[in-house]
Amino acid sequence: MSSARSLRNVKLGTYYVVQLPEPDDFDFWRERARIMVQCDVPPDRIAWIEPGGSGDLFAHGDRRLPVPADPARPVRASRRFLALAKNAALHSDPDRWALLYRLLWRHQNNGRIMEDKADCDVARLEALDKAVRRDSHKMHAFVRFRMVEVDDAAGTPQEHYVAWFEPEHHIVRANAGFFMRRFANMRWSILTPRGSLHWDGEVMREGPPALRADAPAGDPVEDLWRRYYASIFNPARLKVGAMLKEMPRRYWKNLPEAALIPELVAGAQGREAQMVEAGALAFEARPDSLEEIGKAIHACRKCPIGLLDNTAVMGEGPRDAPLMIVGEQPGDKEDLAGRPFVGPAGQLLDLHLEKAGIPRDRTYVTNAVKHFKYVHRGKFRLHQSPAAKEIDTCRWWLEGERALVRPRLVLALGASAARALLGKTVSISRARGRPQPLDDGSELWVTAHPSYLLRLEGEAREAQTRLFDADLSAVRARLEELCAPGS
Ligand code: URA
Repeated sequence: MSSARSLRNVKLGTYYVVQLPEPDDFDFWRERARIMVQCDVPPDRIAWIEPGGSGDLFAHGDRRLPVPADPARPVRASRRFLALAKNAALHSDPDRWALLYRLLWRHQNNGRIMEDKADCDVARLEALDKAVRRDSHKMHAFVRFRMVEVDDAAGTPQEHYVAWFEPEHHIVRANAGFFMRRFANMRWSILTPRGSLHWDGEVMREGPPALRADAPAGDPVEDLWRRYYASIFNPARLKVGAMLKEMPRRYWKNLPEAALIPELVAGAQGREAQMVEAGALAFEARPDSLEEIGKAIHACRKCPIGLLDNTAVMGEGPRDAPLMIVGEQPGDKEDLAGRPFVGPAGQLLDLHLEKAGIPRDRTYVTNAVKHFKYVHRGKFRLHQSPAAKEIDTCRWWLEGERALVRPRLVLALGASAARALLGKTVSISRARGRPQPLDDGSELWVTAHPSYLLRLEGEAREAQTRLFDADLSAVRARLEELCAPGS
């Protein structure tokens, strides 16, 4: 067919009906949409119908595909559009296919359309994508398996796990890989009103939509779920609004642990007090290995920082390191990585240690405070300095590390670290550049924190960086003296 013919189709008002074979078949839509664009068929000339959709209304439409004059004619679509479109195609809104085509059509004249946040089509596509991602997230989080016994081909009973889930959108097939990877060694079925998945440990099969009654009602695995949930429930972090947002009530009926929620919420205050008490117990006997400290700090609730949503970060390095470097507290990156000084301040520190000739891998690096203290600002967690009381409380763990590593020299980075080692607040400018004896016979040197340098600009930064380098060089020289044979 020539392009004149395809244009004539439009002029004469040819109406096309495209029937999708499956409600989640994005590839099929993509292929058909490409042809429609190549044939210049405008959006209002196509009805996209999915299985079970109202096809009869469009019975007069042409179900034959137009043929592009130039099948190699390029069709423009930005990467962002394709990524969002692929996910949004799983939404249950029957108008989504038309929306996708409208945007693809508009792309041909405006390749940057996706950057226009005020555009209604773009906004709608983003909303669909978000809703689908949320539904997938809920599926990952709220699928609960119940065990049944099924005879295999030889008649031997095998454990098979069956879950019932009610997705809002057509996400079941798209999420099969997630469950296959996560429960690779189990035999399981996920039944939903939109279709089912069956995994036998080797092969994934798809099945028809199921009914709630097809799934088993309850079993001992639910007790495990309930015990697990009760054990991870942190009463100090209870925010009922946030909890309802994360676990909306519509999912509760299929979650065995949901029955516990009212009870746990009601008892939250008492349990919080118990947790603080349990944290306090961890202080009675000092652990006698770094591994034990590494474990114990996770249970520490002696100050409120440990009640935030964070992970305790243990010091790291050789247990006979002659130099111990002490920072303030883990930052966002350290909290996520579970390791000290791996974020921007850590990178700057590494650079200057190398410049001074101090090998980090022969240094024990730790922090005055073991948990990340922060406040939420939108999506971000903003660092907050620990209070003097919090530094003094966490000192217990730092002293434990010092007693086990027994460094010859300790370098405090910043005022919080200096306080943790001296038990009082000192000014960095007055304390730097000279050693101070510590009670175990080691020497303390104090310098600025690399985060402080990161906050400075221009000449101030250069001047402070010179001082920092000079402090590190002095530490290196003193270490050489201390570690020289016979000293
Ligand atoms: N700042 C610190 O004081 N410690 C870290 O581990 C990271 C940043």
